[in-house]
Amino acid sequence: MLEAIILLGAPGAGKGTAAERIREQAGYTHISTGDMLRDAVKQGTELGRAAEAYMRRGELVPDDLMIRLVEERLNTAGDGSFFMFDGFPRTLIQAELLEEALRKRDGKITHVLLLESPREVLMQRLTGRRVCRRCGAIYHVVNVPPKRTGICDLCGGELYQRADDQEATVVNRLEVYRRQTESLIEHYERQGLLRRVDSSQGPDKLVADIMRILRPTGREDATHRNCRGG
Ligand code: AP5
Repeated sequence: MLEAIILLGAPGAGKGTAAERIREQAGYTHISTGDMLRDAVKQGTELGRAAEAYMRRGELVPDDLMIRLVEERLNTAGDGSFFMFDGFPRTLIQAELLEEALRKRDGKITHVLLLESPREVLMQRLTGRRVCRRCGAIYHVVNVPPKRTGICDLCGGELYQRADDQEATVVNRLEVYRRQTESLIEHYERQGLLRRVDSSQGPDKLVADIMRILRPTGREDATHRNCRGG
């Protein structure tokens, strides 16, 4: 049986930060399509070359490329896998194809967690975000600062600002979310899967709220069973 949870929310809502903590506490395999795409761009693969211009503008990468990417990732799943999608699906078509892909594998979505924060919080978070070039750890110059400026606490790697975190691109990403992704809220609400979480609070309280929602499925027992996907 394959079970999946989805972290839904605007850019900067804190999906990646929460996902890493949920992975540590509950053992879900973390699938971040943003991380997978950035990796493909870095490696210069065919997908990376096709996706780069969309990402730089803050537009969505076409659905057919995204579906292929996620299908390939699901094909490597073993029996009894627990997945946490971060940044996928982002369109109704992606949502429908994900449901079909899970059904084919005798799987299902158990929860869709909508991380909600006001726009000014999203702007402040995205423009202040820094990411480790080596291990991908996420920081913020004010909210989650590293011990030494510009250096990752975990691996000593260099911290950098994502190309799409420039203010003009951030404004476009928020608009793209409103136009193309917000309709998923209603889609999952209709299925009775959606749970809203206040993501303007700090990461510890946010993750505690999420764990209270997930606990009835018993996934907190799965610690370290799966690992970071990507
Ligand atoms: P992606 O990488 O998925 O970006 P996103 O959805 O825009 O989300 P972000 O990574 O910007 O934000 P987040 O919610 O994860 O916040 P984070 O935890 O980092 O996608 C990038 C691009 O790839 C897209 O624009 C698109 O082009 C393409 N793409 C990806 N998936 C696609 C798909 N399915 N279809 C088509 N195209 C796709 O936190 C942000 C900052 O806030 C950090 O500095 C962090 O330290 C801080 N912070 C986080 N949580 C808290 C908290 N609780 N309190 C205080 N500070 C916090």
